[in-house]
Amino acid sequence: MWTPQHVVIVGGCGHVGLPLGLLFASRGVNVRLLDIDKAKVDKVNRGEMPFLEQGAPEMLRQVVGNGLEATLDDSCLEHADAAIAVVGTPVDKYLNPTLRNLCRSVDDLLNHLPDDALLVLRSTVYPGVTKIVYDRVRALGRNVHVAFCPERITEGRALDELTRLPQIVGAFEPEAMARASSLFSRLSPEIIELEPTEAELAKLFTNSWRYLNFAISNQFYILAQSYGLDFYRIYDAVTRDYPRMASFSRAGFAAGPCLLKDTLQLAAFTGNNFFLGHAAMLVNEGLPNYLVAQLRPLGLGTKCVAILGMAFKGDSDDVRDSLSYKLRKLLEVEAREVLCTDPYVQDPTLVPLEQALARADIFILGAPHSVYQSLSFPADKQVVDVWNFWPNLKAAPRKVEPELSPLKR
Ligand SMILES: NC(=O)c1ccc[n+]([C@@H]2O[C@H](COP(=O)([O-])OP(=O)(O)OC[C@H]3O[C@@H](n4cnc5c(N)ncnc54)[C@H](O)[C@@H]3O)[C@@H](O)[C@H]2O)c1
Repeated sequence: MWTPQHVVIVGGCGHVGLPLGLLFASRGVNVRLLDIDKAKVDKVNRGEMPFLEQGAPEMLRQVVGNGLEATLDDSCLEHADAAIAVVGTPVDKYLNPTLRNLCRSVDDLLNHLPDDALLVLRSTVYPGVTKIVYDRVRALGRNVHVAFCPERITEGRALDELTRLPQIVGAFEPEAMARASSLFSRLSPEIIELEPTEAELAKLFTNSWRYLNFAISNQFYILAQSYGLDFYRIYDAVTRDYPRMASFSRAGFAAGPCLLKDTLQLAAFTGNNFFLGHAAMLVNEGLPNYLVAQLRPLGLGTKCVAILGMAFKGDSDDVRDSLSYKLRKLLEVEAREVLCTDPYVQDPTLVPLEQALARADIFILGAPHSVYQSLSFPADKQVVDVWNFWPNLKAAPRKVEPELSPLKR
């Protein structure tokens, strides 16, 4: 069985690359985290995590300088048995996938990677990218084995999930399939082999499915609230001891760097005929607008509004594509003042929680951080809690009353 000794992770100081590198290093693989961000590289080499990730600070302290090193120097590729590429794959301002970054970094990789090495694509890619890379390798006359092995973790729980989730592996040739399977067998309990384009779609289906599910809940939330009803009374009724609704998620901001972006990659793949995907985008991205519309009758122009939690999800410090920032922009047009706070996010425009609590008339939960669980609010304040994170506020009169539909007035 092929056993790689030296693995280079390209984009290795990011949210996907770093936990992956930590785990490989903790299992005896020699890991180089190749990145272009000097601040992150220096931080990792000092043994400090650049972002929140459960269990990572301890593991980093164990392996840094002891099998794991971050570097800006791409010559480390010259000794690699395997390179794993996990650079970002955003959509552009016209919502189309951008492949330039990935293709450029693959060309750079091939300049340094020795023949007979394994090249794993792990970024979430537009369907067909693995074939483009495979063809490019062949056109350059290189004997590099190409595989696509998508990352399916949820940020913050990567170290646990990487060792529990099956790993999907796609490759055009048996040797590449065997090597990629062997590499990931060091972490994953099970390997699932697919054709590369199947594997690319498997990843996009996963994220789009989640995004659509959140959109269903958000649509139902808006529907119930607009009719003057409490969505969570209905939610509780339909999910309690009723297994067919077990996957019904709570309402809340569906944001972050992956779900919308990957839904849009799938939309582009279908020639923009992925109607459910676009509908989900309208619902999820429209939730902040709906919240502002609900608050408008309170006389927003005279109110100070606080957003608690600016990260894109609870217990995270990641603000990429966070809907809390979109909400702030909308409120800044209408409210007298907007205060934003988050215990994890480094942003000079934020204020301490105490200041927000002391000054605001209206509180909107932006990210359900566990540390907010025990907060209480003065009786004369209004609270907007889409997640039902504070169910005990339910009975209190200060929870924002849903705007009544014409039928119920
Ligand atoms: N974040 C997640 O939870 C998650 C989960 C599954 C899949 N993904 C996918 O993984 C990919 C990476 O996402 P991420 O969240 O880790 O992004 P990230 O921005 O956290 O990390 C990417 C890293 O790549 C580095 N980088 C950029 N260009 C580079 C280059 N040319 N050479 C070397 N390093 C370079 C950046 O400095 C950064 O540290 C994306 O395709 C994303 O869709 C992300």
